[in-house]
Amino acid sequence: MKVTVVGAGAVGATCADNIARKELCSELVLLDIKEGVAEGKAMDLMQTATLLGFDTKVVGSTNDYTKTAGTDVAVITSGIPRKPGMTREELIGINAGIVKGVTENILAHSPNAIIIVISNPMDTMTYLALKSSGLPKNRVIGMGGILDSSRFKYYLSTAMNCSPNDLQGVVIGGHGDTTMIPLTRLATYCGTPVANHLDADTLKKVAADTMVGGATLTGLLGTSAWYAPGAAGAALVEAIVRDEKKLMPCCVSLEGEYGQQDICLGVPVIIGRNGWEKIVDYKLTEEEQAAFNKSADAVRNMNGVLSTLA
Ligand code: 2OP
Repeated sequence: MKVTVVGAGAVGATCADNIARKELCSELVLLDIKEGVAEGKAMDLMQTATLLGFDTKVVGSTNDYTKTAGTDVAVITSGIPRKPGMTREELIGINAGIVKGVTENILAHSPNAIIIVISNPMDTMTYLALKSSGLPKNRVIGMGGILDSSRFKYYLSTAMNCSPNDLQGVVIGGHGDTTMIPLTRLATYCGTPVANHLDADTLKKVAADTMVGGATLTGLLGTSAWYAPGAAGAALVEAIVRDEKKLMPCCVSLEGEYGQQDICLGVPVIIGRNGWEKIVDYKLTEEEQAAFNKSADAVRNMNGVLSTLA
């Protein structure tokens, strides 16, 4: 199994670190356009191999895609991250060209690769990767919902003073401060609805904190977060390479499911060796469906910007 991570910034390098530690592949290529950075981070990671006991071979590459040939799963993290006060959407002008070029280069050397998109604005970048590549829809997956759901469970666990691992919770819709939808109605604590444990106002605050979870970290760090985004990307790679058939909220192409089409948006899907294999219908309430439609409108608007870019 071979995995490539494009972009050796904080998210890409953290994703690579998690993939290597978990030995998700025999070879892992880390690629970046900045001279020497990917080679340096790959060497640094390889020097943890005997400390952590992994046998994945990590190879660095400065923009040489021949090294990525035969990739089974490619994770695209390239592009500029947001700065405090910026939305993910403001990155579209620069990141669209980068994501399109990276997708083309990966597929030129690995025509069978499954593409995972992390670059922002993630829903639009996923749509771009799908449309520009012409790949079958199951092979293009945007990673946002896994991260947002993890943040959701973090905020729930803080409010409930419980282990995040005893919680189940899913965030659907767009990966944006105003477009994501934490499904509080369906969140559970050891099989019981979280609404049994938290009052309505606290639940509302948990949902609101989740939605701006990325912005909160950008404010604290001065740049976009990386530990959880990198770990979430690796969790998605793991579900693919181990053919786990896990349910994960991911950004995928909708063709009528959840009442939407010609859009990539976050919904619960089954992830396995073929990429995303099935969309699971959560049977949204009218209110949840209205929020999902509103989220789709905002993402569709953003997708419209793609045609105005050179
Ligand atoms: C975040 O929410 C990187 O978009 C990512 O932190």
